[in-house]
Amino acid sequence: MKIGIDKIGFYVPSYYMDMRELATYRGIDPNKWTIGIGQEKMAVAPLTSDVVAMAANAAASILTPEDKASIDQVIVGTESGVDFSKSIATFVHEMLGIQPFAKAFEIKQACYGATAGLQMACDYVRLRPERKVLVIATDIARYGLNTGGEATQGAGAVAMLVSAMPRILAIDEKSYMHTNHQFDFWRPNHSEYALVDGQFSTKLYQDEFVTILEEATRHHPTLLDSLEAIVFHLPFTKMGRKALLAYEASGAPESHLSRWLSHYDQASYLNRMVGNIYTGSMFLSLLSLLAMDDSLQEGQRLGLFSYGSGAVAELIIGQLQPGFAAMIDKAAILAHLERREALTVERYETVFLSKVCEEDTPYQALESGYYLKKVVNHQRIYDYQQ
Ligand code: CAA
Repeated sequence: MKIGIDKIGFYVPSYYMDMRELATYRGIDPNKWTIGIGQEKMAVAPLTSDVVAMAANAAASILTPEDKASIDQVIVGTESGVDFSKSIATFVHEMLGIQPFAKAFEIKQACYGATAGLQMACDYVRLRPERKVLVIATDIARYGLNTGGEATQGAGAVAMLVSAMPRILAIDEKSYMHTNHQFDFWRPNHSEYALVDGQFSTKLYQDEFVTILEEATRHHPTLLDSLEAIVFHLPFTKMGRKALLAYEASGAPESHLSRWLSHYDQASYLNRMVGNIYTGSMFLSLLSLLAMDDSLQEGQRLGLFSYGSGAVAELIIGQLQPGFAAMIDKAAILAHLERREALTVERYETVFLSKVCEEDTPYQALESGYYLKKVVNHQRIYDYQQ
């Protein structure tokens, strides 16, 4: 029986910062960020679009009342949660009206968390094919103003409905994974911002990619020949290209590289327009490929390379299902990006530095959808604006 992603939706906040404008302001050659890093726009989250609101909005965009009645688990992957104890999933479960006899919880392992969630969801549905699982990745990537990582920030959420007989991507039972305890990127409990050893992190990512592909080839010598494209965790869009070049340098066949590179621009378009959304980045790349690449065909197999600093990596294999293209609304995806308002550097810095206050004064919603309304007694209260 096939199990996998039946629906996929995303949400990005209503503000963005243009990378050329920010680079110029910081005295950096804009080409470094647009070409060297590969980013055009960076999503900026106002206080009303926190990780909970973004998760709810992404999931609301794909769920019907029938789905909500069939969902047994709400799993949220994040590394920028709002509480050490209470999960984002419990908020979303209530906000969306998922049937009550379900479980809801959060997973953390840097940008890998939602991939673990997807695999757990597939395993659950494999044993109970009449039920469904909602998996959400939601994050706000923050390194701080005027830091080395500033160009690789972003914000957004991706939601996926996992079911039997999926209409988008069937996920293979077999995947290839690797754990390697390192400090390339981490955020201690006391720190508002991520700590990162930037150059080491990009090197470790490439090493993990090559290690996983070599391991996959050892188990299944023809596996990589069968992959039409690979989507990557993309902290910035140059990162996947660097991983492919590292694979080439390790002696990879030229045919793999040229085939995978032919899909790369399409698979990184949305990431280029949004920035790093941590655990959702690989799924945003998958959505980008599905929306932007008209050459994809039913039955083709894709590799999904997930990387979470610290570090855990996994290569998942999926197969495009009959009619998958009809499940992706490209016009709506592009309209969602286009609705955003460009910020000046001054406003970006103000929004970035603003903090949620515990007071009974409501925030104003900036657009329709779920939003953080207020915080009372340390409790976040959300509302929905039509
Ligand atoms: N025109 C065109 N290209 C230029 C240029 C110019 N004027 N100036 C520089 N470049 C190029 C450089 O040649 C370089 O390209 P290559 O990597 O292909 O050599 C690229 O721009 C970046 O230059 P630097 O490496 O000098 O940039 P930097 O030192 O400012 O740092 C970074 C880049 C390390 C990614 C930094 O932004 C950072 O620390 N980001 C956060 C960490 C991160 O994203 N790591 C990724 C792996 S970890 C992960 O994946 C988990 C996660 O989500 C965080």
